[in-house]
Amino acid sequence: MKNIPLVDLRGQYAPLQEEVKEAISAVLDGMNLFLGENVFQLESDFAAFCNAKHAVGVGSGTDALYLGLRALGVGPGDEVITVPNTFIATVSAISMAGAKPVFVDIDAGTYLMDTSKIQAAITERTKALLPVHLYGQPVAMDKVRMLAKEHGLAVLEDACQAHGAEYRGARTGTLGDVAAYSFYYSKNIGAYGEGGVAVTDSRDIATQLQLLRNHGSSTRYQSVLYGMNSRLDEIQAAVLRIKLRHLERWNETRRALAAEYNRRLAGLPGVTTPVEAPDAKHVYHLYVIRVQERDELLEWLKRHGVHAGIHYPVPIHLQEACRDLEHREGDFPVAERVAKEIISLPIYPELTIEDLDYICQTIGDFFDDERTERPRAAAASEGGTGK
Ligand SMILES: Cc1ncc(COP(=O)(O)O)c(C=O)c1O
Repeated sequence: MKNIPLVDLRGQYAPLQEEVKEAISAVLDGMNLFLGENVFQLESDFAAFCNAKHAVGVGSGTDALYLGLRALGVGPGDEVITVPNTFIATVSAISMAGAKPVFVDIDAGTYLMDTSKIQAAITERTKALLPVHLYGQPVAMDKVRMLAKEHGLAVLEDACQAHGAEYRGARTGTLGDVAAYSFYYSKNIGAYGEGGVAVTDSRDIATQLQLLRNHGSSTRYQSVLYGMNSRLDEIQAAVLRIKLRHLERWNETRRALAAEYNRRLAGLPGVTTPVEAPDAKHVYHLYVIRVQERDELLEWLKRHGVHAGIHYPVPIHLQEACRDLEHREGDFPVAERVAKEIISLPIYPELTIEDLDYICQTIGDFFDDERTERPRAAAASEGGTGK
């Protein structure tokens, strides 16, 4: 039986390892560990990758979101509009900034922010819009920007899953006032530890971010504002500089793999393949399908050596952490329904077509009623849950 992981870190490391070891060794030889040549060069390279003017390396994607909000002047008493279908960090960053998260439901096709719902969520207190380019696909930003302009709101892109994604030919990172990226290990470009970067075209915002990530200080022991310790370190930056040189190609391979998945799964009546919006260039951080018998299929895949995931099983408005917002089941019905039906299949540049074939074949078998092993058939005879 095959054993196909959801993410293959070793496969990515193998061809890079000599270069990576040399780069780490050079940092250790120099013992310049923070905010040095590697961080500054990565910032300039990553800004160029986004076609943006400035990039500021920070400790994580969560920090990039939080510091991005602070740099935009978001604070206590403000409301920030985002979505319940995201990783918790999007929303905790709003709360850490002292503001109130306000949700709008997602679109049933792309699973991203339903921009037609934003207008109704805007109040006197709304300060910023926080669209999430989830799975690697950009939100329909024209509408977001139009509303932001109309109501004098700031726009922070959560691009933590969308390095290199494009909307109408423009890269994430240039679609709002600031964009936050994560270098969490499993992202399209990941560090060997924690890391993140905030990208902006505004010199003032970049200067604020540089202060905020380093205790509000540009001169040692002199702080002009309260900041925090969120400096990207030189070892991570040295690794990321190497990986960044491969990112365009890796993203293209992900897109090609997604097309192969689409081709093979399109004919299966029980499966909804991902929708790539006409104005979007999706970079497939995750390849997310939708099936009604999600838990059974997940279990079936596991039994056949395929490690799939769920991103994310509990919408944020129903998380314990958000209890003060007093949301209930039914508040955001699309996000709630989608959360019960989505599965992320393995997708990474090292995934072979042979493995992809096996995954699709295994999914096909699941929907083949003739197969005696099918968990649903087993569940019926046992009168159980199928797990
Ligand atoms: C959509 C989204 N937002 C925010 C984050 C937070 O990034 P990090 O884990 O680097 O703090 C992540 C990544 O984990 C993410 O996927």
